[in-house]
Amino acid sequence: MSGKALNIGDQFPNFQAQTNEGNIDFYEWMTDKWAILFSHPADFTPVCTTELSRVAQLIPEFNKRGVKPIALSCDTAESHKGWIEDIKSYAKLPSFDYPIIADNKRELALKLNMLDKDELSAEGIPLTCRAVFVVDDKKKLRLSILYPATTGRNFDEILRVIDSLQLTQTKSVATPADWKQGGQCMVLPTVKAEDVPKLFPQGVQTIEVPSGKSYLRITAQPKD
Ligand code: BEZ
Repeated sequence: MSGKALNIGDQFPNFQAQTNEGNIDFYEWMTDKWAILFSHPADFTPVCTTELSRVAQLIPEFNKRGVKPIALSCDTAESHKGWIEDIKSYAKLPSFDYPIIADNKRELALKLNMLDKDELSAEGIPLTCRAVFVVDDKKKLRLSILYPATTGRNFDEILRVIDSLQLTQTKSVATPADWKQGGQCMVLPTVKAEDVPKLFPQGVQTIEVPSGKSYLRITAQPKD
């Protein structure tokens, strides 16, 4: 049994949940910001501890981008409160400034299709995989990724994707392999040649390829 698979562009479902900071309504908690919801198999586990520490250290970077992080783990809010002390110690931080959803009954994990049938608790109940959902200020799903429990996520990559999402929603560009903030971008294939000079006053370089097609158009990252 599981919820409906979520696709990019879908309305992200609202939910109510318990967290270490009290009960929340997800939409109300988001206010008018973006959110990153990332799940974990269980409290007091090593890889999860490194991930929650990393996100705690990156809070200023998420704030700069108008993104609120929220974690989920398959244990109770009381358990989360104890675990947070370990996370603060590991991260060498005096405070822990984002909520962890207490999904000990797997209700949200089921609703959002996050259960990993290969990863079981000591009682034989499936745990959540390492899912990441990036939800924009209109409550639309903009990115989802699923990692197995044994592979910790790269949160610099998640910030990089958020930068790309926020850039490409207003400019007629896409970001190439290994792009980073400030790097060269590709002109969208849908941009007509006659519109290029007006849209890209900074200039566009077209790379010649054997097919003779002019689709590899490179430009400096457009300014805000
Ligand atoms: C961990 O966070 O280290 C972990 C949790 C569940 C399975 C494997 C690793």
